[in-house]
Amino acid sequence: MKIVHVVGARPNFMKIAPIMAACAKYDDIESVLVHTGQHYDEKMSDLFFRELGIPKPDINLGIGGGTHAEQTAAIMTAFEPVVIEQAPDAVLVVGDVNSTIATGLVAVKLGIQLIHVEAGLRSGDRSMPEEINRILTDAISDQLFCTEQSGVDHLLREGVDDGKIHLVGNVMIDTLLKNKEQADRSAILEDLKLRQGEYAVLTLHRPSNVDDSDTLDRLIGVLELVQNDIPVIFPIHPRTRKNLAAFGLSDRIEQATNLHLIDPIGYLDFMKLMANAKLVLTDSGGIQEETTILKVPCLTLRENTERPITIEFGTCEIVGTDSDQILSAYNRIMTEQSNQPRTPPLWDGKAAERIVDILRDRHSAQ
Ligand code: UD1
Repeated sequence: MKIVHVVGARPNFMKIAPIMAACAKYDDIESVLVHTGQHYDEKMSDLFFRELGIPKPDINLGIGGGTHAEQTAAIMTAFEPVVIEQAPDAVLVVGDVNSTIATGLVAVKLGIQLIHVEAGLRSGDRSMPEEINRILTDAISDQLFCTEQSGVDHLLREGVDDGKIHLVGNVMIDTLLKNKEQADRSAILEDLKLRQGEYAVLTLHRPSNVDDSDTLDRLIGVLELVQNDIPVIFPIHPRTRKNLAAFGLSDRIEQATNLHLIDPIGYLDFMKLMANAKLVLTDSGGIQEETTILKVPCLTLRENTERPITIEFGTCEIVGTDSDQILSAYNRIMTEQSNQPRTPPLWDGKAAERIVDILRDRHSAQ
């Protein structure tokens, strides 16, 4: 079986790593890795390949940024000849970024089987670009691998044949569990002069939060208050850095001396930073899942989540972007003992192995 695996943006890398490793155990699977180049900075891409032991991409499409239409179209145009030349049995895509739908669409139009890992997640919010990518990718996929039961339920409701749906667990957590010990050895706490449990970690990059000047202004206002109380470490995404400057908010950040902006950091440093934090504030999807396993309280700075299991089983609380709501949840975390989170079913480090077992079974039955 020949599989073309696709990655493009930062959250794809920790998902593909265990899948490629599980495929590499079998002589009867040939893997080709294509990087679309959606993310291209060393700290957003290459660093993760090195740390997670992902093989160097066989092909890099070098697409970079652009509007949604530009980026999606450029990926499709560059990917089509690759699929024709490689003639794989399947194309495997992960997550919900533009690279996921762009390459998935090319594959199915060429009659190649499409495999989607992290299928079925739905926020119900069609203003999120990722929600559109999820719905469309799932609608055209042949094999759909889900991280949580809500994903299975959504797919069945949308009319997907249940023979194509597999609840296998979470490949992002495979990577977390595999790298936990190595992450524990990171020196990031010493480097940033932090003490365990005495700081918060913040990430912000969703267009709904950082592309709108009023929302970003309001969020910075809340963070100014939080940083009076506890140091806040803020590894900043390129999109957010550009917008802080464009909206004239950089001075406010500079004056908030306990809000520490740092460049994006690698996977191991980031896991160590999160694992030892008092709390995490984020609008990321993957971080909601990682805090669930790390058992660190997480305030989800969004109005909804496509990962409800991180609330039901995990440590996450949806707080939106309203100042009062964020501050009252923050105060609760600082003063009350939190409930003991539970590990979601199948988030045991073996999701990628399950996926590859199913793919091999299906292929040999063809
Ligand atoms: C993308 C994904 C989002 C995911 C996020 C993780 C889509 C629609 N969005 O959003 O789901 O959560 O990645 O980070 O696919 N940039 C750099 N250097 C880089 C990467 C990006 O400077 O290495 C710049 C781009 O040029 C662009 C901006 O950051 O101006 C945003 O990049 P883009 O890939 O369009 O979307 P993200 O916000 O990263």
